[in-house]
Amino acid sequence: MGKRVLITGIAGQDGGHLAKLLHEKGYKVYGIIRGQMEASHPRYQAVKQEMPYVELIMADLLDLSSLVRAVQLAQPDEVYNLAAISHVGYSFRDPILTADVTGKGVVNMLEAIRLSGGEKTIRFYQASTSEMFGGLDYNRPDKGYSEDANFHPRSPYGVAKLYGHWITVNYRESYGMFACNGILFNHEGERRGSEFVTRKISKAVARIKYGKQDVLELGNLDSKRDWGYAGDYVEGMWRMLQQDKPDDYVLATGETHTIREFCELAFKEISIEIKWQGSDAEEVGVDASTGKTVIKINPEFYRPAEVDLLLGDPTKAEKVLGWKRKVDFPGLVKMMVDHDLGLES
Ligand code: NAP
Ligand code: GDD
Repeated sequence: MGKRVLITGIAGQDGGHLAKLLHEKGYKVYGIIRGQMEASHPRYQAVKQEMPYVELIMADLLDLSSLVRAVQLAQPDEVYNLAAISHVGYSFRDPILTADVTGKGVVNMLEAIRLSGGEKTIRFYQASTSEMFGGLDYNRPDKGYSEDANFHPRSPYGVAKLYGHWITVNYRESYGMFACNGILFNHEGERRGSEFVTRKISKAVARIKYGKQDVLELGNLDSKRDWGYAGDYVEGMWRMLQQDKPDDYVLATGETHTIREFCELAFKEISIEIKWQGSDAEEVGVDASTGKTVIKINPEFYRPAEVDLLLGDPTKAEKVLGWKRKVDFPGLVKMMVDHDLGLES
């Protein structure tokens, strides 16, 4: 008999990658999708069409009873809690909902496992994040953040995730649950939501190429992120739950790049060289050969507090899990732009 898995956030970026990976490994995959969606609902249909092998279960991280029912129905060997309000900028606008879903939702999922009698048998993965480090207290510029670095979250999202992180550690220590935190640095790809900066850029580049858009509006160009490919990161999640002992691991590339660099590489894919002119909110990116402005700043996208620099140290995951990212930064940018060129042509 193959293993059974329950994935929350199945409709999100990582949910799709993980479902595919585990299906290919022979798992019976159950996925939680929220809302009161009938099988005829377009969103339900879209997920079903992309992942026909997934049994979809209607449930919500805010509703403990729905999660208990989901665990009872799926009878999983492993649960991956990927669901969250995951947009950092949005979390400033809706901090209370973010606390409820991204923070309290984790304890709801853990309690659903306990109430279903699965605390000794079900392995649990929590989607923790580099946002918990926050970019302050950064004292290892050469190597990046590892598992024992200080946390100093800079957004309601980061604060909510920190609760999720520690409650996962607490259930491991209190009840002996096989519960792991994957502290993942940014990971992107063709399934990334277009509200996140990388996909916003790759989509805009494709639309500008085909004359569907004139200008890309962005916020802070100078923050740095450690960007990897989501397909590589779900492999690391799975490896965490296959160990003899539960533990927490950083997954990262060990490289960091600015939003500005991402823009430059992405536009290069359509043979546009970006020249930057002006400063602060007046800065623009122009097409060096035509002088036309293709990037401008919209302060609406600035955040009340910013994480200026994220760089991860994946040494522990590489040593213990034998995990290593495969896709590098230029490869990631190219993959995303090529994908969007295909969609927009
Ligand atoms: P995502 O694309 O935003 O997916 C999150 C999913 O959570 C969505 O499908 C969403 O459902 C679902 N969700 C939201 N509220 C819910 C609720 N109340 N009940 C049930 N489901 C709910 O995020 P992702 O990029 O795949 O990331 C997966 C997880 O890893 C998230 O927890 C994120 O915070 C964390 N993380 C991501 C990264 C990254 O770089 N991608 C890095 C570190 C950690 P709808 O589709 O209905 O909106
Ligand atoms: N979204 C967005 N939109 N971000 C912009 C924009 C814009 O127009 N312009 C500049 N940025 C900057 C943000 O200010 C931030 O510094 C950086 O681009 C990355 O923003 P996002 O792509 O929204 O990702 P994030 O780093 O805030 O959060 C992602 O990674 C976290 C892990 O570090 C999300 O996936 C989180 O869920 C995840 O935990």
